[in-house]
Amino acid sequence: MDRGTKPAVLVTGGAGYIGAHTAKALHELGYLPVVYDSLSSGFREAVRWGVFVHGDIRDHEALGEAIDAHNVKAVIHFAGLIEVGRSVVKPDLFWDVNVAGTTSLLSTMRDKGVERLVFSSSAAVYGQGGRGPLETIREDAEKAPASPYGDTKLACEWMIEAQCRAYGLSAVALRYFNAAGADPSGLIGEAHEPETHLIPLAMAAALGDGKPLTVFGDDFDTPDGTCLRDYIHVNDLAEAHVAALKVELSAGQYEAVNVGTGKGASVIEVVEAVGRAVGRPVPHSVGARRAGDPPSLVADPSRARSVLGWTATRSSLDQIVTDALRWERNPRYGAGVRSGRLQSTLTVGG
Ligand code: UFG
Repeated sequence: MDRGTKPAVLVTGGAGYIGAHTAKALHELGYLPVVYDSLSSGFREAVRWGVFVHGDIRDHEALGEAIDAHNVKAVIHFAGLIEVGRSVVKPDLFWDVNVAGTTSLLSTMRDKGVERLVFSSSAAVYGQGGRGPLETIREDAEKAPASPYGDTKLACEWMIEAQCRAYGLSAVALRYFNAAGADPSGLIGEAHEPETHLIPLAMAAALGDGKPLTVFGDDFDTPDGTCLRDYIHVNDLAEAHVAALKVELSAGQYEAVNVGTGKGASVIEVVEAVGRAVGRPVPHSVGARRAGDPPSLVADPSRARSVLGWTATRSSLDQIVTDALRWERNPRYGAGVRSGRLQSTLTVGG
């Protein structure tokens, strides 16, 4: 197949962590990913599959040009700000980029007749809600976001659902649990600036590239007292996007689906798995709880199976950390990015 005959999918935020893995999955399955990214927090080096368009999602005209230039038929929308802590101090920025950005994208899609959307939502829409500490989360669980970040994701979902009803758009919102791991090639992986996520920080600590890890609290109402999360391999997550793109939907249909494994792992279990993969223990100590951390966030993944025909197949903790380690050990990427050695060749901002 040459470029002209492949169905083109606009991937906003495709230079970011989950976006880059999804662009690779799309490429491998015969699509043309058209990566549209402002590089405010993504990496140009992560765009290795398909074509790259430099632009901001709030730029209606540039979005329209990208859609026309590549005859785009569907959109996977990742672009947005994700740092929960920053959203607390800059809520206006999050509403502008995440909500106004999604409004701009939706109106451009309508103008251009693009009728299919997969939206990057988050388990952050649930917060702790009214459920018990060890209950898995169904899509109809109470929505009680604990941060402006979660508020903006929920607001986008509402807006998308309303536009499905009003204009015949078909959309799937994927509520991610904890994306983790890296492509087994070691070419793309997790690199946030600054990094706040557990697995990269634990790995950097074990490899001697970072500070000892602080475990944020061990007095939660969970089996070992540390928080439970549902870690999902980023390539499983990428496949869920392709499944969401392919599933048959009628005009106006909107689906919100959890993307997780159904199994929680505690912070200590993750620390131990990282230690096993690296071959030496993760230096760590227990500190205070981090504001806004619910004790447990674990998906009930049954709707993903019934609606998308998708289940996680490579999300054991050991598989996740083994793949993450391959990326971390690639001096040109993982640890190299984090230590600042690559600042001259990578565009890091945000
Ligand atoms: N943690 C530590 N020490 C650290 C970093 C994290 O103990 O240095 C703990 C956290 O307290 C939490 C767990 O490790 O219990 C996972 O934390 P992450 O920061 O890796 O991920 P979060 O669960 O906080 O957040 C992720 C996504 C968010 C999304 C959220 C939805 O990164 O974008 O899941 O639940 F909103």
